[in-house]
Amino acid sequence: MTDPGLPAVAGGTPLRSQPLPYGRHQLSESDVAAVVESLRSGTLTGGPGVAAFERALADRCGAAHAVAVSNGTAALDLAVAALGIGPGDEVITTPLTFVSTANAVVRAGATPVFADVGADRCLDPRATAAAVTARTRAVITVDYSGLPADVDALRAALPRPLPVIADAAHSLGASLGGRAVGSLADVTTFSFHPVKQITTGEGGAVLTSDGAAADRVRHLRNHGMTSTAEERSGAQWRYDVTTLGSNHRLTAFQAALGTAQLGRLEDIVAQRSELAARYDALLGRIPGIGLPPRPDGRRSAWHLYAIEIDAGVFGCNRDAVIDALRAEGIEATLHYPAVHLLALYRSRGGRSGTAPRAEALCGSLVTLPLFPSMTPADQEDVVTALTRIQAWAGAHPVGR
Ligand SMILES: Cc1ncc(COP(=O)(O)O)c(C=O)c1O
Repeated sequence: MTDPGLPAVAGGTPLRSQPLPYGRHQLSESDVAAVVESLRSGTLTGGPGVAAFERALADRCGAAHAVAVSNGTAALDLAVAALGIGPGDEVITTPLTFVSTANAVVRAGATPVFADVGADRCLDPRATAAAVTARTRAVITVDYSGLPADVDALRAALPRPLPVIADAAHSLGASLGGRAVGSLADVTTFSFHPVKQITTGEGGAVLTSDGAAADRVRHLRNHGMTSTAEERSGAQWRYDVTTLGSNHRLTAFQAALGTAQLGRLEDIVAQRSELAARYDALLGRIPGIGLPPRPDGRRSAWHLYAIEIDAGVFGCNRDAVIDALRAEGIEATLHYPAVHLLALYRSRGGRSGTAPRAEALCGSLVTLPLFPSMTPADQEDVVTALTRIQAWAGAHPVGR
């Protein structure tokens, strides 16, 4: 093997002059044209463009209803509210997620209960079943990195039927046993933040096949008013407010971008999958690197490509790997610090040792760059950097 060179963290020249981000949105000329057309339509918010995006999303995901909202966090808030979750209730969720998942439960006045994850890095059905109490009102799964949680196994393990919300912020385009994410749980939420499979800038959606739940989400998205702005025309100007809601609407030009991007979803997921397979082939040869799980019957949408560092075998610990990659201009990162151990959740009783597998993962995961326009040369830079870091760490004890 050729000498990989001295790592930048030890004074070598960084591999990259242009930093390589971990994620990046992709816009086509047709996306831009769709937004321009929407801006010229005379409708800036609401209207047929939002309805068309909702229909396309529901159809793609095999759900009866999709309600477009301002971001994935609002989608979670509205999903929790639509199930009537409130003070005194417990909701079981995973600590291996963005804090937004648990925060939605807290904002509703309920208590998040953190169960451990399984080998697929999603909620473990047995641990979830063991966390059920008389106060449990729902379970929120998270499709970590784009791999759908096995909702069927989870439901089968529960001691009594409970509604399942899928936080599918990572997994638009994924499937379980051939069934699309969006049709698996009682309620599914998406995020369309720029690093996700499709983007609307900021944006999100709630999908469900329960018509009453969809109506509640629509109502709460619009201040709990009895009519929308479009409905209040002509003689229909009166309205009432029956529930405490807020403004969680998506604009028409964001919806136009979403519809255009959704039309390319298959290509986007295929590009992500190809990059993930290439990473597997290149990184499988490096000792001390654990590859992402690929359980049978599940198609990941590859939002993230997250490896596990075995510090003893690799030669240095995870934090040292991320620091050294960043010094090379490769913006590796961590998804996520364990939510129950964040200061906010520690102050609410979170303790280490309560979700050992998730806690171990949170100490060993490294998210590597993955986005559709990433080139083979970009990927080789990542692999060269890891090889360089390992060769140097073997000879110079850094964090272990
Ligand atoms: C798992 C998960 N849930 C929820 C969210 C919140 O989505 P948004 O940023 O659109 O509010 C994110 C955002 O990245 C996420 O990763």
